[in-house]
Order: sequence, then C-alpha cells, then structure tokens
Amino acid sequence: MTEIETSIDSIQPVARPGVLDIAPYVGGDSNVPGVNRVIRLASNEGALGPSPKAIEAYKALSGELHRYPDGGSSALRTALARRFGLEAERIVCSGGSDELITLLVRAYAGPGDEVLYSQHGFLMYPIAAKGAGATPVVAPETNLSTDVDAMLAAVTERTKLVFVANPNNPTGTYLPAAEVARLHAGLPAHVVLVLDAAYAEYVTHHDYEPGIELVRRSTNTVMIRTFSKIYALGGMRVGWAYAPDQIADVLNRIRNPFNVNAAGHAAAIASLDDLDFVERSRAHNDTWRAWTVEHLTALGATVTPSVGNFVLAHFPDAPDRNADAVSEYLKSRGILTRKMASYGLPGALRITIGTGEDMKALVDTLSQFLGR
Ligand SMILES: Cc1ncc(COP(=O)(O)O)c(C=O)c1O
Repeated sequence: MTEIETSIDSIQPVARPGVLDIAPYVGGDSNVPGVNRVIRLASNEGALGPSPKAIEAYKALSGELHRYPDGGSSALRTALARRFGLEAERIVCSGGSDELITLLVRAYAGPGDEVLYSQHGFLMYPIAAKGAGATPVVAPETNLSTDVDAMLAAVTERTKLVFVANPNNPTGTYLPAAEVARLHAGLPAHVVLVLDAAYAEYVTHHDYEPGIELVRRSTNTVMIRTFSKIYALGGMRVGWAYAPDQIADVLNRIRNPFNVNAAGHAAAIASLDDLDFVERSRAHNDTWRAWTVEHLTALGATVTPSVGNFVLAHFPDAPDRNADAVSEYLKSRGILTRKMASYGLPGALRITIGTGEDMKALVDTLSQFLGR
C-alpha cells in the first residue's frame, strides 16, 4: 500500500456529536428459531389484526404501485379531520409517529438544548434528542406515572420540548386531562409540549383527553397519533399530528415530500371508516386485559394498572423466577414478551394483549413454569 493510500484509508467520515451515544432502538422479537407457531406479545400490535376493509383497500392498490403517493396526504387528512372534527390543514401525516418524534426534535432542538421526558417514557424521545445533538433530560416518576411537579421542576431555560406519552409505554399509566393542563400551564410558551397519544383509542376513562382540546387552545402543544396500535397497521407506517398552524407549517417544511406511502394511505382511510372494528378491538382489549391481570396476579406477578393494550408485569427477584427467567422460558415455548431493562425496569416484562387464545397460552405456560 502506498503512503497516500494509507493516509486516505485512515481518514473516515465522523458522525455529528451525540450520534454515537445513541443505543439503537431494538424492536420486540418477532420469531424464535425452531418454533413454528410464535405468539407475538412484544410489540403492542393490535390483537385482532387490521380491519378487513383496510386489507381490501391495500389489495386494491396493487395495480398502482408505480405511482407516487399523494405527497400532502390530503385524502387521509380530510378523512381524519372528518372523523375527529379537526381542521385538515392542521394535520400532518407521517411514516409512523416515530417520524414525527424525530421531526419535532429536529425542528425545535439542537446542540445545547434540552428535551425533557419522564423516567420510563418511550425510548424514541432520547434517541431523537441525541440524533439532533440535543440533551435528553429525565424527570422522575411517581408510582410509574408521569409526575407533573417533577416534570415542571426539571424545566430549564434550555428546555425546548417536553414529551409525554399518554398513556405511557411501557408502564400503561395515564395522566388525566386536568394534570396535562396543569403541566401545560406551568411551561414557558416557547416550549413545545408533545402529547404522544399512540394508545388513545384504548382508553375509556372519562377524565382522559388525548390532546385535541389543548392543541386547539394553545400555540405550543402538538398531539401525535398512530395507526400502528388499535388499527393494527404497524407494517404500513402511518402516523399523524394535530398541531397549531405554525408548528404544522414547520413540520411540512422538513418532512420528506412523500413520507406516507400509497398503501398506507389506502389502508388508514379504510380503517377510519370501520367504527365497528375499532369498537370490537377496544372491547376485546378491555376483556382480555382484565383477564390477563387477574391471572398474572394469581400467579404471583404484580401488574401496574394499565389503560393501554399491554400490561407491565413485575416478577419476584428470585433467580429461578425473575423477569429474565420468565421471559426466556416463555420464549423457549414460542411466546415473545418484551424485557424492560432498557427502560430501567429489569424486574418487569411488558406483555401485549393478544387474542384470547394467545393470553390463555401465556397463562398456561407461565403457570407450568412458576408451578414447577
Ligand atoms: C408511546 C409510543 N409512541 C410512538 C410509537 C411509535 O409508533 P409508530 O411509529 O408505529 O407510529 C410507539 C410504538 O410503540 C409508542 O409506544
């Protein structure tokens, strides 16, 4: 090798500060080598699969794959506006709500700025903050729930965004509308409050509000939503934001021009029309979440009260029956749950509410293991 080749070889592109501090997001497992029928309870995917209408709309698109999608997602925004009583021009669609988290951080925070979220908040918040060179800041929780006073106490003059997953993943807890309003009231007007309501459709509590009301009456609140959960279209990657005019304008300037694909548009629009399907999915979740909590508790786990389509189950700290041992045993039997060490909860597993058959298999397998 010549001297010039050696020196060229040793010069490498260097990522911006912060990027190499990111621990890449690791999704839930989806298969187990050697196991044919895998029960996937690791990614909070809707238990019943998508609406048949969404599947039909997806299939009907197969002759149009050479066409670019509608870059402004106008049909989907119109459908969302009609369905939720919103202004279509204040809706921004995205390739999953993950994309909105990244776009919001990129638009409003950079090196020297802080992005605040709660102790066991969704992992994409610190990932997005670091990706933009900003500093993620964690506020402690109380009883595995966002603590408004702790969040407000952690705000500094450098805070640019505050993320609240409501309900929160992975704890399943939620903040009532009055607490969200109190958080908003305590924030300086230049701080963007992001209400991540990925699981909103599952919540039946009357004191809950996903964020629409607050977005309407403020200039610094954004609500983000997804088609990945109750609509069960995770593979399609469709999310949306409802935002004040200026924030919608900012998001539209920095998003990719065709950020939602045509199949995603078709399936999402068809899903919105299928109100029966959403109602059936919510009822299914209520029934089987209660059933699962009852049986996990009877088997000795402590379950954090959840309003989402998943539960956080805490296992005893005994080497032969702790969360790791339980997870490995379930996995060896083809049942996938999510380990929680990356969320600072090594003693817990997050378990998605699947079909009735899935949940019975989970409880049977767990009782075999714990009853040894
Ligand atoms: C709280 C929360 N926000 C956002 C997302 C991202 O969802 P998606 O990018 O599939 O819309 C998830 C997914 O698990 C989530 O739990």
